[in-house]
Amino acid sequence: MTDAADAAHASGFRLTDSAPERYEQYVAPLMAPFVDALVESADLRPGDTVLDLACGTGFTARLAAARVGPTGRVHGTDVNPEMLRVAVAHRPHLYPDIEFTEAPADQLPHEDGMFDAVLCQQGAQFFPDLAAACAEAARVTRAGGRFTATTWSHLDRSPYFLAQHELVAEYAGEEAADGFVQAFSATAEVMTPALRKAGFHDVTTRVLTLDVTLPPLIDYVPGHLSALPWSTLTGTDALRTAGETFAARFAAHAAPDGSTTLPFTATLTTATR
Ligand SMILES: C[S@@+](CC[C@H](N)C(=O)[O-])C[C@H]1O[C@@H](n2cnc3c(N)ncnc32)[C@H](O)[C@@H]1O
Repeated sequence: MTDAADAAHASGFRLTDSAPERYEQYVAPLMAPFVDALVESADLRPGDTVLDLACGTGFTARLAAARVGPTGRVHGTDVNPEMLRVAVAHRPHLYPDIEFTEAPADQLPHEDGMFDAVLCQQGAQFFPDLAAACAEAARVTRAGGRFTATTWSHLDRSPYFLAQHELVAEYAGEEAADGFVQAFSATAEVMTPALRKAGFHDVTTRVLTLDVTLPPLIDYVPGHLSALPWSTLTGTDALRTAGETFAARFAAHAAPDGSTTLPFTATLTTATR
């Protein structure tokens, strides 16, 4: 096994088989308002060279590409080649090309100081060595360049995730539930010292609570669960039950067409190199 593959197994977020396609289908709509906020905050300019760190299926990289325009360059790295396969399949046929490369966050293949901006959307909490990943991000960011990340805030600030945690604990057991909680571990208190120690300055964190409108939960929840690594729920019965449980629990938030709007809270971290 390669070093990168080792790191993939060590990471807290590993999707295989057809799960990365489902990640793109079900997770992209949930993340969309946070991706917008992240890219907005990164203040990308036409012509910028940008890294999307832990890019997954590439939706942040795609928005960054639209912002930097034909004179810019966007690179995406992720430790999981199966996520990158989907990212490549969804790569827009527009300038600039996005270059996707398999690499763990703490061993980037890029030159020192080559990026104007490094973005990391819901990835930092899964790095086995956050300090080493921040040091690599600092190495590849030019002096005066920007680092911008989103990470989920505490679980109880996002009612949908709280319900998912209860469900994972009930159906998949405590070990899976503990893995799930890792998604909420990169708080401001964790991100700030890691970035400062890596050599970033002007580190700021902001709590971002955004309403997200999801498709009718009865169908959305089974699809979303099947695109997450912690849930070992198997069989359509269990998934259907999960959809029914969520639809009932959040019925008060549903519109007449069944779409459901719920608040999600993340930490938006910015820093300057
Ligand atoms: C929740 S997904 C986020 C993906 C994408 N940035 C997004 O916004 O949806 C977490 C990603 O972090 C990646 N990851 C986990 N550990 C990693 C590591 N050590 N180095 C690079 N990527 C890693 C996973 O493969 C996965 O694609």
